[in-house]
Amino acid sequence: MRKVKNVKIKPWLATTLKVIGFIVIVFLCIFAFYRLQINSLKKIDYSEKASNNILFSGKKDYVLSVGKNKTLNKAFESSYYDEKYLENYVKIKYVDHKHFIKNINKLVDLDYSNNDINIIFSHGTDESVSEFTKRDKVHYLEEYFSYDYAKIENYDRYVAYSDEYGTDASDSIIFVNLYYDKPAYEDSTLVDKFSIDMLVNKHRHLDENFAPSDLADVDPMYTNGETDLKCSRLTLNAFIEMFKAAQSEGYDIYINSAYRSYQDQVDIVNLYTRDYGESYVEKYVAKVGYSEHQTGLALDIASKNSRIFANSKEYQWMLDNAYKYGFILRYDKRYEDYTLFKNEAWHFRYVGKKIAKYIYENNNMPFEEYYVVFLDK
Ligand code: DAL
Ligand code: ZN
Repeated sequence: MRKVKNVKIKPWLATTLKVIGFIVIVFLCIFAFYRLQINSLKKIDYSEKASNNILFSGKKDYVLSVGKNKTLNKAFESSYYDEKYLENYVKIKYVDHKHFIKNINKLVDLDYSNNDINIIFSHGTDESVSEFTKRDKVHYLEEYFSYDYAKIENYDRYVAYSDEYGTDASDSIIFVNLYYDKPAYEDSTLVDKFSIDMLVNKHRHLDENFAPSDLADVDPMYTNGETDLKCSRLTLNAFIEMFKAAQSEGYDIYINSAYRSYQDQVDIVNLYTRDYGESYVEKYVAKVGYSEHQTGLALDIASKNSRIFANSKEYQWMLDNAYKYGFILRYDKRYEDYTLFKNEAWHFRYVGKKIAKYIYENNNMPFEEYYVVFLDK
């Protein structure tokens, strides 16, 4: 058997190893303690980066007493974190904006309350809030921004509109969001996506090539014998359902005009200008690209019983029943200020049953108002 040699460690080496061992143990203990603290923050949803910064700024106990808070987390992640705004960060509802923390600091400096700051963030985009921080404190924030659909970037235009027209805040917001503080057809938005809730009017236009994605031929049994009418398939199906219901109750409706291409509208504008003059066209005919008929969702309805649709029993039936099939009367006399067109008894618009029912149940509010309040996000 081989003899195992007794290894002798020199005393200085033994001491060095002990010291190193001790340092490693101390280091491991510190590290374990540090991880424990980080984990106590991560457990309440602070990120690794935020937790680190919280520890090194000595705010761990404060943050633990606040608990989970997305804004505070974001603040500690941000290079714009500043202890003097700590109480504000806690009170401000989180929004996913790139310059969120920087903008909070600026708004606090402008002397806005936490409540004001929440209002500002909930009505603006990152870009519009950043712009808003560059101006002096405004006066009528709550008055205008108690409405969800108010937009921070439109603040000056709301105030100017109310001053000029004496409208209340709610109407000013609706009209300004629709660009009605500008002349008709100016500052128009291009609408390029087909949907049953799309809005086309004197400030929202279609381009030359726009056509509904589901264009369908209208059978002449639903027209006055015309064979070349088309409209969106959804609109046609809804019309057929309505036509049958009307017929079973003794009412005869038919379609006079449906989808009109950009070129068709050129021809109509020219024809009506020649026959009736510009002032008539201004009131009753949309400029090229601005006609709802180009969406394929608008139908001009007529009655077999009366040449003047407004005088027919079918008109009354439509007012009472069209919503059940997803149609609304689009150009009502009561709200020419919203549509910017004169009353048209015959022009109905398919918007789907849900929207039509809501509009019917809310005193036939204008579709423009519905759009601003519910759709223009
Ligand atoms: N008559 C409606 C407004 C149009 O031309 O579209
Ligand atoms: Zn029409």
